[in-house]
Amino acid sequence: MPRLHLNTHSIDVAADSTATLFDYAEKLGVKVPTSCRKQGKCKECIVEVTQGADLLSAPGEEEKHLSDGFRLSCRACIAASDGEIHCHTMRRGTLVVENQAYELPVHADGFTPDPTVTRDGERVLLDGHEIDRRPVTDALHGLAIDIGTTTVVIRLLNLESGELVASSSFENPQRFGGSDVMARIQYDTEDKSRSLQRTLSGYLSHAIEELPVDPTSIYEVVIAGNSTMRDMFFRLSVYTIGQSPYQSLTEHEMAAGKRDTTVLTATAKKLGLPVNPAARVYGMPIISGHVGADTAACMLAADIGNEDRLVAIMDIGTNTELILGNKHKVMAASCPAGPAFEGGQISCGMPGLPGAIEKVVMDDDDEFTCSVIGGGEAQGLCGSGLVSLLAELVRGDRMNRLGRFEYDDHELTVTGDVTFNEEDVNNLAQAKGANVAGLQIIFQQYGIKAEELDVFYLAGGFGKHLDLDASKRIGLIPDIPLEKIRQVGNAAVEGACIALLSKTKRAELEALVRRVEHCRLETDPNFFDVFVEGCQFAPIGSETPA
Ligand code: FES
Repeated sequence: MPRLHLNTHSIDVAADSTATLFDYAEKLGVKVPTSCRKQGKCKECIVEVTQGADLLSAPGEEEKHLSDGFRLSCRACIAASDGEIHCHTMRRGTLVVENQAYELPVHADGFTPDPTVTRDGERVLLDGHEIDRRPVTDALHGLAIDIGTTTVVIRLLNLESGELVASSSFENPQRFGGSDVMARIQYDTEDKSRSLQRTLSGYLSHAIEELPVDPTSIYEVVIAGNSTMRDMFFRLSVYTIGQSPYQSLTEHEMAAGKRDTTVLTATAKKLGLPVNPAARVYGMPIISGHVGADTAACMLAADIGNEDRLVAIMDIGTNTELILGNKHKVMAASCPAGPAFEGGQISCGMPGLPGAIEKVVMDDDDEFTCSVIGGGEAQGLCGSGLVSLLAELVRGDRMNRLGRFEYDDHELTVTGDVTFNEEDVNNLAQAKGANVAGLQIIFQQYGIKAEELDVFYLAGGFGKHLDLDASKRIGLIPDIPLEKIRQVGNAAVEGACIALLSKTKRAELEALVRRVEHCRLETDPNFFDVFVEGCQFAPIGSETPA
């Protein structure tokens, strides 16, 4: 009798060629997203099969868009009488999602909402025009959504008081189209059925339906996200973002004089969101093809447009975004760092899920003590665990600054089955080299040194959980005093909230984005030298060894 392991549930099943994985999921009480009730149409019921794919029926027509390892659970049947199948829905466990933001100017100064949605008695107005009638006792709501390549974060706000009513987050289900934006662009370009967009829309709709308010009371939705995620959500082709000079359609249209902003708007009805049909969806402006609306939202959260101090924002990820400046001058850069610091291309790498090592301490006998998310047995290393491990290896002289192990034979055991090898180090070195090159070149082009910075914001979930001393020791962030560094968490969703609540701030951001100077790393003559220097595991700016 085959054994089915679905998410964290297991059963022994009689091989029944008419029953699908979806049917077994229902039996186990595992919730599978669906809008078509198992008809093979909505493409939401995807599962990732990590073992025993050959024990399932062959993929059918409706699954042609899926790459190896992914199936529609309403189509895949168990087709063997023995063996073991491991699979999970696209909502794996509880991902450590950073959906809060901290230590931003808005938190210190307070904030008075002036939303685009207002009311005059029972009349609900959008930009001063009536769009609905509603009892005066009903609250008016809006949504701020940050669509990340890895995670999606939603906040529900009361538009008049600014109060946070609810929030939710989930893993971006588009993972079946690849883990980084370039893979998603290629997938979307080749897939005429737009399944990436449709799957995400389905997940978003389910998340909105679960919010604790009448969805028709939601009158505006603000979308942040990198350029690819934003444009795909708005059903635009993202092909041009993947081709030199890496610009979105909105930038091409601006250059051709067809529009004067990279902002996107559409009705909720057109995008299929289950909110008030008259609601507007506002896509925040992008700065370039690889410096997107999420970065613009971070600029708003950090209030750079009104800032006298010299400020940098760094959001480390598969594509690291950098902002440097103040109200007088702002520059932006993007660094294609790759997925290593998110656990990709690392032999025992994994996302920040339960079971991931997030911190490592090495004692005098070179033994490791590991902190594991959720306690329990270590299954791999997430980004913060990798930074911590590298810093400990450098501190204990077990690895030199060039990334070579001093006395381990190309591989060491961290704990249990979790190992770490020199190829992993090499991949991390290249990711770090790209980040450091970005920092060095943007500082050079701006004409300042890192020590002249007044504030260094580390945005994003990865930045929030970084050990700052460890990060400085291996040269992932500038070697500046700790009191200048703010680990602000999800500043993008915070910026999206500000744009949702204030038309004044929204207009300020649109004007600021037009002034941002784009720093192109790939054409800088010093890029190769600073990249090579940045691949070393040493504080930024320290001397190269003889
Ligand atoms: S449930 Fe809709 S495609 Fe499977």
